[in-house]
Amino acid sequence: MSNVSTVDIGFPDGRSYTISIADGLLDDSAIRTGVDASHAVVITERTILALGSTGPLARTVANLERRGMRVDTITFAGGEEQKNMSTVMDIMQQLYAVRGLDRKTLLVAVGGGVVGDIVGFVASIYLRGLAFVQVPTTLLAMVDSSVGGKTGVDFEQGKNLIGAFIQPCAVWVDTSVLTTLPPRELAAGMAEVIKYGIIADTEILTLCQELPPDTADYLDIVSRSCEIKAAIVIEDEHEITGVRASLNFGHTVGHALEGLTGYKRYKHGEAVAIGMVSAVHIGIAAGLTPPGLLDTLLKSLNGMGLPIDLPDDVSNEAIIELTCRDKKASAGVARYIIARDFGRMELHQLPVNVITAGLDRHRSAGSNHV
Ligand SMILES: NC(=O)c1ccc[n+]([C@@H]2O[C@H](COP(=O)([O-])OP(=O)(O)OC[C@H]3O[C@@H](n4cnc5c(N)ncnc54)[C@H](O)[C@@H]3O)[C@@H](O)[C@H]2O)c1
Repeated sequence: MSNVSTVDIGFPDGRSYTISIADGLLDDSAIRTGVDASHAVVITERTILALGSTGPLARTVANLERRGMRVDTITFAGGEEQKNMSTVMDIMQQLYAVRGLDRKTLLVAVGGGVVGDIVGFVASIYLRGLAFVQVPTTLLAMVDSSVGGKTGVDFEQGKNLIGAFIQPCAVWVDTSVLTTLPPRELAAGMAEVIKYGIIADTEILTLCQELPPDTADYLDIVSRSCEIKAAIVIEDEHEITGVRASLNFGHTVGHALEGLTGYKRYKHGEAVAIGMVSAVHIGIAAGLTPPGLLDTLLKSLNGMGLPIDLPDDVSNEAIIELTCRDKKASAGVARYIIARDFGRMELHQLPVNVITAGLDRHRSAGSNHV
């Protein structure tokens, strides 16, 4: 296949991998796996399995078999509510039952962010670490979760609280698999693309006017998003300097909303959309964010039909309480990624009265948001 675009991620210690992107990529058996393996275990969820012989699971298995690899398949029930340690244990039990599995076996995660996060975590612990390839099948996973090496599962007390940093050995992005993805999931993925527009590159917002009609139209969006995320991850792989924390713009309130509504009401990207609006209102209330940024954000989110309002049945107090336990919290005090301008993000520890004023501002904006 000639029209494959690539984004390379290389770290100072020499580790590196390639994100390969094309419409129809899964039919190309020349794409790099990044490792020399003769046995693979492809792990996916049942919705992907149900997509049948033309779906991403069958095409990934066929791709690996054409290389002469022996391939086993493991499935589990998908969905955010399954992103927990009991699913991790179930997958490891299934791996134990795979004949001939050893430390040279390659794991291949085929699915959205839930599959990628769980399988990546399993790869980080099973047999003290196995190589794995990410084959993202949602837009959100293509532009965000499959890249950068954050893996993990939810804990009863909070989202993504158990996990590990482990980089995949390759990421295979085939935008043609988006054909079967529901429009609501596509819009949720676009929320993370809009985030890149605010935190790093306003030009990408010109691609976020409405949902593109063809899967090939997503190639540019995915490539640019991966380039932005790769540059940030290379600079701050383990979120130490604060550079990587900018990727969490909108996620503090977003994660709280997901938790407070039982991970059922909102898609992750939808919660991030509302969370970004809250983060801007909080930034404005703190005198740190220029008010003009809000209009640009709302225009892009509205264009995708994404939710922007805080739900009435979730109180400011509940949000603030939960954000104090967020991974970015320091000594129990919430920290917010605040936009000082487009492309200029800062991590701020803000007093509760400022956060409350921002959330009130968000709630009272009401119909002015439309
Ligand atoms: N690791 C990271 O850096 C990172 C970044 C962002 C989000 N995340 C995580 O990603 C998860 C959200 O990912 P998601 O939005 O992809 O959710 P998801 O994996 O649950 O997929 C969304 C839905 O789409 C279905 N689906 C997937 N691919 C499909 C296809 N090609 N056709 C039809 N249906 C398909 C799934 O069955 C599911 O119902 C969250 O758990 C979030 O915490 C991780």
